[in-house]
Amino acid sequence: MAERLEDIAQQMVAKGKGILAADESSGTITKRFDGIGIVSTEESRRDYREMLFRAGAMKTAVSGVILYDETIRQKAKDGTSLVDLIKAAGAVPGIKVDSGAKDLALSPGEKVTEGLDGLRERLKAYYDLGARFAKWRAVIDVGPTMPTWNCINANAQALARYAALCQEAGIVPIVEPEVLMDGPIAAHDIDVCFGATEWILKTVFQELFVAHVALEGMVLKPNMVVPGKKSPKQASPAEVAEKTARVLKQCVPAAVAGIAFLSGGQSDAAATEHLSLINQIGGLPWPVTFSYGRALQAAALEAWAGKAENVAAAQRAFDHRARMNSLAATGEWKAELEKKAA
Ligand code: 13P
Repeated sequence: MAERLEDIAQQMVAKGKGILAADESSGTITKRFDGIGIVSTEESRRDYREMLFRAGAMKTAVSGVILYDETIRQKAKDGTSLVDLIKAAGAVPGIKVDSGAKDLALSPGEKVTEGLDGLRERLKAYYDLGARFAKWRAVIDVGPTMPTWNCINANAQALARYAALCQEAGIVPIVEPEVLMDGPIAAHDIDVCFGATEWILKTVFQELFVAHVALEGMVLKPNMVVPGKKSPKQASPAEVAEKTARVLKQCVPAAVAGIAFLSGGQSDAAATEHLSLINQIGGLPWPVTFSYGRALQAAALEAWAGKAENVAAAQRAFDHRARMNSLAATGEWKAELEKKAA
């Protein structure tokens, strides 16, 4: 496996490939399982992840997988470690290292992501377990008086300190500042999202500079520029693509190894179409791909429903979504291709 940060980062954003975010905490995956009546146990979580990591698209469409602490230590049914399954597919194992978004003191309604204490030691341990990249997610809420400078600043500083610790440990940081779509206000339209995204990205890159983070050895995981879910003013896919490409060009230095979007609650189809349209705009200085959780897994999870006899159908559903997003990563996705689903 490539060991230079730049090489790992480039592998993560290799042409036509993207990242599978399978790093749901046990609490989050339990909620997803509850939604379709699957009992969440260490074994059922392992079975589900093993099913994904053995799917065909792992070799053709997936460059890396973000794992959760439990998963990076698990073994498949036949005793192979899940990390080895991922490596055998030609993908890079990664690990979520933040400990979640906590209430930001004296900033009602806002969060700051924690997990810096002991991170240097944890990164060493994860490196030994095979992780070559990591993820830290900051969340930025939009509201009548949000985000505040306090929230932007605290999260950007934490992201930069995390990224520096990763690079010191030989691990590529995925830097993920997410402007959420589910703000409580109708006024949260696409331009409000543009403004909040611009603010956090500008601040994050300022802090990464202060922290001596090498941009060639990191991947940015941003939100797309979309209206809030409660906004009466929805936006066309073309507008989302144009505004997303514009804010990224304005804020993200060309030296960054690549951009891999989160799906953030968009529908599977919208996340794919938007990615394809952004790539069709062209002229972007970085590879632009996906690092989806829900938008890659939702169909597979539903098809699986916790039953061994559904594994093949669930893998087909996963392969289809991964292939659609792989095409979108080079701007070649077309709506007609969706109908050919398994
Ligand atoms: P979604 O694509 O479901 O937003 O998840 C991506 C992710 O890793 C969030 O941190």
